[in-house]
Amino acid sequence: MEAKEEIVSALPPQRDVSQQATQTTKSSDSVSPPQRFSTLRLIIEDIRAWHRLWYQSHWKDASNPPRLRRHWRECLGLVWAYSGLRATIMFRIGYGLKRRHVFILPHIIGTWNLILHGLDIPPYIDIGPGLYVPHPVGTVITAKQIGANVTLVSGITIGMRGEGGFPIIGDNVYIGAGARILGGIVVGDGASIGANAVVLKDVPPGATAVGVPAVIKFPARARETAPQGTGSPT
Ligand SMILES: CC(C)(COP(=O)(O)OP(=O)(O)OC[C@H]1O[C@@H](n2cnc3c(N)ncnc32)[C@H](O)[C@@H]1OP(=O)(O)O)[C@@H](O)C(=O)NCCC(=O)NCCS
Repeated sequence: MEAKEEIVSALPPQRDVSQQATQTTKSSDSVSPPQRFSTLRLIIEDIRAWHRLWYQSHWKDASNPPRLRRHWRECLGLVWAYSGLRATIMFRIGYGLKRRHVFILPHIIGTWNLILHGLDIPPYIDIGPGLYVPHPVGTVITAKQIGANVTLVSGITIGMRGEGGFPIIGDNVYIGAGARILGGIVVGDGASIGANAVVLKDVPPGATAVGVPAVIKFPARARETAPQGTGSPT
């Protein structure tokens, strides 16, 4: 029972999928842009996402997580304990410097992120706030754009399929371990990608895609239970 609650707690916030079903296309313009946020704000939002999961899995109150300021010690503990959060913060710092047109340093930070945490994200990739990467090792991200509150579980590749562009990932998307998302495709808001799926076509908002090559297992649906095994920070 406790394990199930931990799994549920690791879900990114769910959206009303019935509304998402009406949205069929998505461009990089409609993904929550990180440019609206300062680097510090992006880092705070990432820590907030981790803190929400941690808080919910320890105190079981999913409805009303406390303000970060009252829990700064726990937040420092999360940064200390979880390589995924440290990797995310390193990426944000590199991204912030890149935005300020700092030369070379963002790429050095990116290289150290790869060496220290196994996370390979170039510093120019736009990723919205609330990024949750529980296990960064082996994850390679070269998306055109990634939205807010996205979960990348582990060992994920997002990038080109030969030639023809890079994927756009919407808001509140959950991507399971080992998934590959390839080519100039769009993964809609609230979609879930199964572990080890190879996604080569657009995924509609709220849909679940699984398999090799991935097929839509479920169109948009109201979910009663969370995707399994998101690796909540416990
Ligand atoms: C895709 C996923 C999100 C769907 O979760 P869900 O909506 O709860 O769906 P269920 O687990 O109930 O599975 C529903 C169906 O999809 C199939 N399915 C689920 N995940 C699948 C996957 N990754 N590949 C192929 N089929 C899958 C199930 O066999 C089941 O098929 P059936 O209806 O014919 O019996 C989830 O299964 C998943 O892959 N999560 C990733 C977990 C992960 O990365 N863990 C690593 C932690 S470190």
